[in-house]
Amino acid sequence: MKTIAVAGTGYVGLVTGACFADLGNTVTCIDINKEKIDSLNRGNVPIYEPGLSELISQNVSAGRLRFTTGYYEALADAEIVFICVGTPSGVDGEADLRYVRMAAETIAETMDHPLIIVNKSTVPVGTGDWVADIITRRQPSPIEFSVVSCPEFLREGSALRDFNNPDRVVLGSQNPAAAEKVKELHLPLGAPVILTDLRTAEMIKYASNAFLATRISFINEIATICDKLGADVEVVAKGMGYDKRIGPHFLNAGLGYGGSCFPKDVKALEHMALVHGSHPALLRAVIEINRDTRRRAVITLRGLLGSLSERRIGLLGLAFKPNTDDLREAPAMEIAHLLQNEGAMVSGYDPVAMVGASRMNPQLRLAESAYDVAEGADALLLCTEWNEFKQLDMGRIKTSMAKPILVDGRNIYEPTRMQELGFVYRGIARGMYNNGHSMGLM
Ligand code: UDX
Repeated sequence: MKTIAVAGTGYVGLVTGACFADLGNTVTCIDINKEKIDSLNRGNVPIYEPGLSELISQNVSAGRLRFTTGYYEALADAEIVFICVGTPSGVDGEADLRYVRMAAETIAETMDHPLIIVNKSTVPVGTGDWVADIITRRQPSPIEFSVVSCPEFLREGSALRDFNNPDRVVLGSQNPAAAEKVKELHLPLGAPVILTDLRTAEMIKYASNAFLATRISFINEIATICDKLGADVEVVAKGMGYDKRIGPHFLNAGLGYGGSCFPKDVKALEHMALVHGSHPALLRAVIEINRDTRRRAVITLRGLLGSLSERRIGLLGLAFKPNTDDLREAPAMEIAHLLQNEGAMVSGYDPVAMVGASRMNPQLRLAESAYDVAEGADALLLCTEWNEFKQLDMGRIKTSMAKPILVDGRNIYEPTRMQELGFVYRGIARGMYNNGHSMGLM
């Protein structure tokens, strides 16, 4: 059992704190946002992550987990402190490290005994050295410390499962003894541990996310070509996936990637490459393909409707993916703006992301259900593959629409069945099923 502090109570910080507490450690989560801490102390968890609220409640009740704004209180008995603050995209894609700096400075000024500082936030290569330099300079008097990089590999919507069943634990440090201490913390998870230096650990995170994003843009590029050649990209992906060197995962063609990680991390890696004189041609292509994938949905709708002006278009799903309320870089939200810019009247429904959506796009009409979105719509665009959209009464949907146009942005519907129901159905590169038309440029 160890005593741990976690700086930052966002999605990574809360999952990290709650899961380490659930393993029997004593954890104090810190945030400078007093409102957030007060809300957590009232038992309100500000993010939607399946199972997290219950896990926090259990561990607070067991006395293993607490929340505070006070670094001194949090660090008092801690031997390890995790930095889990946000690193949003800054100017031209560079990671904004102001919160990491603030956390490092406060830790330096507050610590009164040796500490292991663990960077869990996704930070540019070299940040570990930068954090060490900040702490050295800001300490009122020298106190021993070590910095360890321990990148997170959590997916929103399955973060608890991913934390407790990691494919690997990556630890980077210039101090092997410190890395070993952090390794001990992860032993109950039973995963392979990679021990390396700080920069290599930081790069493993970026390279992993950039590769996953590359797979997505790759299959979306293949989808564009399939569209022109009449091949079904779903079957192409399946045929590829049986190759053990390729594997079946992350080959779902659709509206591309969103969220708080892939867009930010690929741009940050591109920026790192550029400032160090490299030419990241592939990363640029990944970003460009992802951007075009969203625009292609608008082109398809325009092709089917003639003009988008005054048209009523319904979006099924708004969050960037199912089982989360996160709208950051969500394809649906960008597509809504693109449609509105052409005069369309856009409505949307999402099982959990409605509050955020109205704040992000006040002109978006928020519907109460998938059936409500369809009522009187000239076209429906499936943006997020929530389970509840997979078994809708599509006959009722079609009857309630002004025009039976269904664009399936995530290929969750069976083309033949949709056409038999009377829909003008467009999937993503479904080959011959798409009435011989392309999903892409008309
Ligand atoms: C990702 C990484 O998976 C995780 O390891 C990292 O720690 C954080 O970033 P996350 O962004 O939560 O996790 O979601 P993920 O499930 O990876 O999906 C990312 C995006 O890619 C979503 O918008 C999803 O819709 C899209 N996607 C995913 C595809 O378009 N096609 C696919 O085949 C898979």
